This record gives sequence, C-alpha cells and structure tokens, in this order.
Amino acid sequence: MRMKKIIILVSLFSVKILSAQNTITLNADKGKDIINKNIYGHFAEHLGHCIYGGFYVGDSNKTIPHKDGVRLDVIEALKKLKVPVLRWPGGCFADTYHWKDGVGPKKERPSMLNVWWGNVKEDNSFGTNEFLNMCELLGAEPYLSGNVGSGTPQELSDWVKYTTHPNSSSPMTDFRQRNGRPNPWHVKYWGLGNEAWGCGGNMKVEYYANVYRQYATFMTNWNNSDKIFRIASGASDDDYHWTEVLMKELPAGMFDALGLHHYSVIDWSKKGSATDYSEEEYFTTMKKALFMDELVTKHSAIMDKYDPQKKKALAVDEWGGWYDVEPGTNGAFLFQQNTMRDAVLAGATLNIFNNHCDRVKMANLAQIINVLQAVILTKEEKLVLTPTYHVMEMYNVHQDAMMLPLEVTSNKYIFGKDTLTAIWASASKDKNGATHISLVNVNAKQAQSVSININGASYKTVTGRILTSDKMQNYNSFENPNKIVPVTYNGAQLNGSKLNLNIPPYSVVVLELK
Ligand code: AHR
Repeated sequence: MRMKKIIILVSLFSVKILSAQNTITLNADKGKDIINKNIYGHFAEHLGHCIYGGFYVGDSNKTIPHKDGVRLDVIEALKKLKVPVLRWPGGCFADTYHWKDGVGPKKERPSMLNVWWGNVKEDNSFGTNEFLNMCELLGAEPYLSGNVGSGTPQELSDWVKYTTHPNSSSPMTDFRQRNGRPNPWHVKYWGLGNEAWGCGGNMKVEYYANVYRQYATFMTNWNNSDKIFRIASGASDDDYHWTEVLMKELPAGMFDALGLHHYSVIDWSKKGSATDYSEEEYFTTMKKALFMDELVTKHSAIMDKYDPQKKKALAVDEWGGWYDVEPGTNGAFLFQQNTMRDAVLAGATLNIFNNHCDRVKMANLAQIINVLQAVILTKEEKLVLTPTYHVMEMYNVHQDAMMLPLEVTSNKYIFGKDTLTAIWASASKDKNGATHISLVNVNAKQAQSVSININGASYKTVTGRILTSDKMQNYNSFENPNKIVPVTYNGAQLNGSKLNLNIPPYSVVVLELK
C-alpha cells in the first residue's frame, strides 16, 4: 500500500516536471539589430537536378512552361518565399568551373565532366547570362562563387568585369555586349573559393589567406560605385583556428565576410533514411542542428576580438540536413525527401540566426531544388513544396525586421541519457509595426505550453499559423503534395501583457501581434 502511494507520488511528480511551463520574456522595446534578409538565402549548385530539371528545362522545352528555359512554376513558388540571395554555381563544382565555357552561343559552348557530382556531362547550357537573368526574374541578389581552387586571378577578375562593369569599358564588357547584354547586372556578393580546406584545394588556412589576398586584389570593382562584397571561404563546423587565422591575416579592406559550413549529419558513413527514421535518429539530427548555436557564438566571439564593431559578417553559406539519397536515385545527386524533421531543423536554425543577427548577415540553405534539404522537389512537370519551403515562407516576415531579444527558459527534451532544449524562438518587429514571434517545439513526444511575458509594448490582437502533422516522418510527395501545409493557429491567448500557447510536438508556429 505504502509502495503504491510512493509510485503514484513519483509519477505525479514526473508528469509535473515534464509538463512544466516554458517561459519567455519578450523585450519589445529593446530591439537594436536588423535581421538581414539575406539570412533567408539559398544555394544552387550544378549537382544532380538542382539546375538541370530543377530550375532549367532548356529553351526548346514544349511541355513545361518556361522563360528562356527557366521553369515558371519554380519562379512563382520561390517569389512567395522572397528569396533574397542565391549562391551559384557551387559548392565543390565552383572550384572546377570556368565561367567563359558557359557564355556565348550555346552550340559553341564546350562540355565538361562534372567530376564532383557523378561524372555526368555538363554542357554549359546554363551559364552566367542564364543565371543572372534568372536572378532578375526572381528578384534575388546573385552570389557568385569564384573558382580559386583551379582557376586564376585573371579569370575571376574578368568575371567581375563581365558582370558588373559599365558598357564599353573593357574587352570583357564588349564580350558581354556581343553576348546580348549591354548593361551590367547587379552582382554584389562574391565568394573567393569554396571549402578551401577540402574540395576547393585542400589548403591550410595560412596558405589560403595568402591566396585569398592575391585573388581579392584583382577583383576590386574599381569602375563602379556599386561596391562588391567579398566573402572568404570559411571554416568547417568547429574549426575555430580557420576563423582566427583569416581574421588575423586578411586586411580589413579586402574582405566583408567569412563563410561557415555546417551540415546536420547523423554519421557521414551512415546518414540514415530521410523519411524512415527512429526517434533516436531524429534526436541526433536535432542535436547536430542545434549545435549551430554554439558554432555561431564561438566563431562570432573570435571575430569580435578583431572586429569589435562587427563590421565583418559571418555568412553561413551552406547549412541543412543531409541524409541518404532516396532509394533508386543516383548516389551522387544527393536527392532526399523532406519531412517534419526538416521543418523543425529549419525553424530552429533560422531562430538561431535571427538571434545572432548582429554578426550573421547571410545564410544559404543547401540546396534550393532537388538536392539535400530542398524547398522544392521536381519530377518532370510536377512540383512539390517541402515542409522546409513552408517554414521559409512562414518566417519571411522576419526579413529586414528589427530583432526583438527574448529571454527563454525552456524545458528539456529528454532522450535516453541525453537532453536538448525543447523551445527555440525568435522575434522581430517589421516596418509596419507588427511583431512576429516564431517558435519551434523540438520535443518529438510532448506538447509544450509556453507563457510569454510582454515587456515594452501592448498588443490588441494575436493571430498565427502552424506547421504540424500527425507523424514526424510525414512528407509531401508528388502523389500527395499538400499533406503538410501551414494552417491557421488559434491556440494563442492574449491577456494584457501575457500570451499563452501550447505547441504540439515537432511543430513550428509563427505568431503576429498587433
Ligand atoms: O552541398 C553539397 C556540397 O557540400 C557542396 O558542394 C560542398 O561545398 C559541401 O561539401
């Protein structure tokens, strides 16, 4: 009898602990930093069906509506995301790419083998003019990733002239005019190599710093008031030495940002299925994803030592989840499905970037179509918007808004002997005065009740949207493309300066307060 009593007491106690309320304080009058819209950037590489079949179906295609070969359904979907910036042509591909092979009459463009991604033939039919015209169609800023690994300073300098210099100012601008484009495009963002520590040349950072300085010298945009923004190939994950050396060795006038790449991978030799995963795999993916918070904190702290005024940006120019390819697809094409796990990963990571917006000024999800954590999947004329797409669309309210600091006290998501923070949130105030709070419940098993104390503002109304599903492994397929879509969320109650809500497991909520 006594034993029974103890068991009941213990279980009541544990229920109480597990369902304790999460508390957040919203400091609505303490905003000082703008969330750079480029945090919502994307990445497109000549890899699998990202470009060919994804963006580009060729200008003679008769079945899929297109403009100069670029799919119009893709453009329409991406416009709703307000894609601010698009990185191209790689990735590893960029350090094998010679841009002059991809301009001029298509019939005369040489082919090459795409050695990084399946040794498939690259016919160069989608090149600089096609990409930059597509960015104009999309309303996105291009971010060109220059070939430092196997190119020359001259080649990169010529690319800057070809794309940005005024008409008739050099042989390169005459070349552009002969290729049908008299006026320059607007190309602000330039990467100097990609993963210089790996596929971009296997360099040591001390060596890369010198190479960087050489390339950067000749790509300065002398003739144009529209100054270019140079991004150095950054660290992999927690290689803090890489960041330290670049901050020390690169002259301040020669760079604007350092990159950083981090993928959420369970184990590089056993990545696991994108759809058929256990809670343990989900937990591990989340642990890897949430490590982003520590990464940007520590890389930023190193940058702070050399640049306390935060003039230089951290550009997380590759991030996302990486799993095994879909069964039956080419292993080198990195085509994977996208479930609620990816929605939670994206929502939590974007909250991390928002909260670090004093230093993180750009991020590029890898990759935009048909590769890794894509927002769009295509199959001939069919198109699917993934759960990650919907998170990006829900969160676009944060673009260029003032970040409002939050103080979060969260429950733990316990799995075995390990724990993760359950609630990840960020907030901002947009130009029209509306406040948005995005919240993610990482806990795969338990709903979380959240109580938000509002300081420094008073609101009359709260509305919201939620992305959730009855199984975390669910996804949008070509057969059932709308299984997971955001719906209206009426679960938030506003009572004076208190806001209470309940978030289901593995779900993403965005609230609007007015
Ligand atoms: O996004 C796929 C690849 O991952 C990129 O080409 C490379 O930069 C990274 O290693």
